[in-house]
Amino acid sequence: MSILNNKDEYRRWRDEKLSSTKCSIGECLIDIIDPFSLSNSEKEHILGVCSSNNFALFQLKQQQNIVEAIISVSLQLGLNNYDQHLYAHSNGIAHITKSENNNQANYIPYTNKAIGWHTDGYYNEDAKRIRAFTLFCINKALSGGTSEWMDHCMAYILLREDNPDIVQALTHPQAMSIPQHEIGGNVRRPKSTGPIFFIDDNTSKLSMRYTQRKKNINFLDSNEVLEAVESLDELLRSNTDYHFKLLLEPNQGIICNNVIHKRDEFIDDAKNPRLLLRGRYYDHI
Ligand SMILES: [Fe+2]
Repeated sequence: MSILNNKDEYRRWRDEKLSSTKCSIGECLIDIIDPFSLSNSEKEHILGVCSSNNFALFQLKQQQNIVEAIISVSLQLGLNNYDQHLYAHSNGIAHITKSENNNQANYIPYTNKAIGWHTDGYYNEDAKRIRAFTLFCINKALSGGTSEWMDHCMAYILLREDNPDIVQALTHPQAMSIPQHEIGGNVRRPKSTGPIFFIDDNTSKLSMRYTQRKKNINFLDSNEVLEAVESLDELLRSNTDYHFKLLLEPNQGIICNNVIHKRDEFIDDAKNPRLLLRGRYYDHI
């Protein structure tokens, strides 16, 4: 039994979530004095906001070695099992910037295009489930590139309060499939089939895998699932107290339990292109 199928358990969890979640960016933004040695209060503040909101924002002073600084912050918050992504550097940190490399430019994150609502690694097999990610701004674009996100637990609550059938359909074990990914005849990633909302066995937390990308995504061919996906998209498109929107400034970052998020398109300053550093982890904060 879990919040998915036990009404009393769901109501307790929902009430706790609604009373603790914060709705302003200011309450979720924490200044870090020394990224290599977080103070107890900084650490408690970040972990507390991650526990109520599934994300926290943080701000550093200019650093000599920013990659080491971000890895150190992540490690102190319990993130050490990183995902060695296709284009990640050796320490798991990917440079999200507009790429001139043709192979890499096939992937939307490495372009200046908008990215629709998604959770990271929605295509991964269960053993490589992305439970947390960090995104840190080195350079912002000349214009655009704003991030928007929503705690997936709040999305679940709003949908369930609207109509329990919607979330029921989104927990269908075959709700969303992504075909296997091949490069030059080699299978890089097996087919991924699973629910959109589910309880993660490892953490017992409500989790989400989703993308609004239409290419290579198959939803279960049932009216319940297709209508539920439409309701989810409608919620994401709307503007609730639980939608957050921010243009990350240099030296600002987000650390989160893989909340659902999107990015606006952007225009670069050719001499100083937009650059964000991203880490993806199998750990939950
Ligand atoms: Fe993402």
